[in-house]
Formats: sequence, structure tokens, C-alpha cells
Amino acid sequence: MKCLLNLMKGASLAAALFIFPACRESADAMVDRVFDVALSRYTSMDEALTTLTLPRTAQADSLVLCKPSWWTSGFYPGSLWYIYLKTSDPGILALAEKNTRKVYAETQAARSHDIGFVTNCSYGNALRFTADTIWRQPVIDAARALCRRYSPVTGAIRSWDFSRGGKTWLYPVIIDNMMNLELLMEAYRLSGTDSLRAIAVAHAHTTLKNHFRSDCSSYHVVDFDPADGSVRSKCTLQGYSDDSAWARGQSWGLYGYTMMFRESGEKVFLDVAEKIAGFIIPRLPADGIPYWDYDAPDIPDAPRDASAAAIMASALLELSAYTENKGSAQLYRRTALKQLRTLSGPGYLAASGENCNFLLKHCVGNLPAGSEVDVPLSYADYYFLEALLRLRGLL
Ligand code: GLY
Repeated sequence: MKCLLNLMKGASLAAALFIFPACRESADAMVDRVFDVALSRYTSMDEALTTLTLPRTAQADSLVLCKPSWWTSGFYPGSLWYIYLKTSDPGILALAEKNTRKVYAETQAARSHDIGFVTNCSYGNALRFTADTIWRQPVIDAARALCRRYSPVTGAIRSWDFSRGGKTWLYPVIIDNMMNLELLMEAYRLSGTDSLRAIAVAHAHTTLKNHFRSDCSSYHVVDFDPADGSVRSKCTLQGYSDDSAWARGQSWGLYGYTMMFRESGEKVFLDVAEKIAGFIIPRLPADGIPYWDYDAPDIPDAPRDASAAAIMASALLELSAYTENKGSAQLYRRTALKQLRTLSGPGYLAASGENCNFLLKHCVGNLPAGSEVDVPLSYADYYFLEALLRLRGLL
């Protein structure tokens, strides 16, 4: 190293590391570094919370909180469980338990399809990492509640109970909803209730049939007629246009179908996950972090979305273990590693004292609504930590 630094006289260490990648921080060291930061920041973050609030994002250097009923409420406890898995820190364990209990009421209601995100990240992780049966029943209760939003006529779980953007939806189903199926599969394993699995698999098939275009990009929203299951319209709420490829939506699809292949063994789900990867990987900028929409008109000046990158990295690492093609496995792993290196670098990993204790900067929540643009988001941190654990072989 000394000799290399002499060679690089006059150049910065960062430049040396760029030119001689062998000198780069190892992946293990990178994971250790980020989790050290996470342990300290996520502990401090709790000090700003009340008994029924959780971190959501930050605005103008102030932490923005959410109630347990907001769709992202499970990600903070979920991240605490990931930090506990990596560090075994007893203080983090106590915070993870406390913040998981905050979302209990949500597990008992079928208020929205996001009960899957909320419950699986909090109670689901608690059960997986402690094996303590006190966390088990809420997972099953929430899955049963989620099934109340399923209709055999549409073959899908209803996402929203509202219409927006001048549209009238009768039975909207969004690509994001694929993520909620993991809760059903987990609860099926825990309870042996066949209908939980059947509903998850049916929803995945309905989404496969209706949300995807011929290039395997996906629509954000498909609205069904609940009377006969026919499709009324296909559009977007959070993407650039009805026909564009909203970046986080593509990541939800990639992750959702990879997960459903793991859970069901249905090869068609693996095939679609690989086709989604085939659509998005070639469209990534050089550093691996997508623009908020792959068709944003102002690329390369459009905002990036670190949340879409983190979800994608986590999914690609899992997919690399399932694909039968060695070259694809290498590509998925290489892409994910590149994304994680970028996210772990100074351009995206916030310096201490900024970003209200969140890890990642530069995420986009809902750009068309002018909401949460170029901000930290609790779910970006969650999937970032998850991807790092996967990289390290800990999940
Ligand atoms: N599931 C909502 C979003 O991705 O913004």
C-alpha cells in the first residue's frame, strides 16, 4: 500500500482507489462500516419518537414522522431488526421490540394492502430473528386481514380505496402490491392455511397477466371491474406517464417475482424476474442508481431514486442465486455490488450530522405530486441494509 501511495504522489487516495480497484475497501469492510453507522444513527433516531410515531423522511433538516397507519411505518422497526441481526446489540434489540409493538393495531386491520409491508418488516423480522413465538400471531392475523381485500372475480388483492389524478378507479391494483405477498406466504408456512398461499399465487399470476408490457416494463396501476374482472384502465400515479417505467415500480416487480419464485417454486415467476432485470439493468446510469423514472424527459438532469436502487440491489442478489444462467448470475451480482458501493459512498451515504440520522440521501417518493423529492426515505434505508446483509450472506 505504501509503495502504491508513493506511486500516486500528488493524487488523492480516492483517485488511487479508483485507478487500482484491488485497493478498494473490501465488501465485508463496507458492510461493517455501514452497519456501524446505522447502529449509532438508528439509536439516536429513536430519541425523537413518541409512543405512536415512527420516522418517515426529512424535510428542510427536520425529521418527518408518520403514524403506524402510514404504509412505511414498519420500515424503522424492520431496519432495527436488521441492525440487531448484524450486531447482536442489546440496546438495538430493545428498540426493535418497542418500535415493532407500535404497529400492532395495524396488524389487526385490513385498512390497506400495505399491511404486508408494515407487518412483515416489523413482526415478521422479529419472528425470524428471535424465533420468539410472541411475534407469531400478529403475522397470521395481518395475513388473514389482507386476504379480506382479495376478490376471486378479479383474482387480485385490491390496493387502494381511493381514486386520484382525475381518474375514477373501481378496483385499483398496483405493482407495489407484489411485495405484500411475502406476508401471505410467511403466514401460510406458520399456520398451514392453504388459502393464504393460493391467494398470493393467484395475485401474482393476475399481475403477471395484466401489468406487464411486451418489453417487461410494468404499468403502475391496473384498474379492474370488480363485477366481471375485466381491465378498465392501465395508468400511473407516481411515474412520469401512463406508459413510462417508474423506477421504484420496476424494482418492486423485480423483488416481488424473485420472492414469489422462492416461495412458490413456480418457474414462470423466475422467468419474469429475469426479464424485468433484462429490461432495467441496461437502462441504469454508470453508477447503478436509476433516475426516478426510466423515461423521465430530463435525463440526465432528472432526480435519482436511491430507494429504487436499494430495492433492486437486494432483489438482484437474491435472483443471482436462482438463475440457471451463470453469466446472468454474475451480471446480477456485479450490478448489485456496484449499486451498493455507490450507495455506501459519500454521494449517497449521508455524513454524520446531516440527513436527520437516515443513512441514504437522494430518494424520490412521489415526484408528480411534488412530494418527497430528493430526500431520505425509511424504506430506502431498509432495503439498503437488507441488501448489505445479503451481500454478506447473513440473510
Ligand atoms: N408503495 C408506495 C411507493 O412505492 O411509493
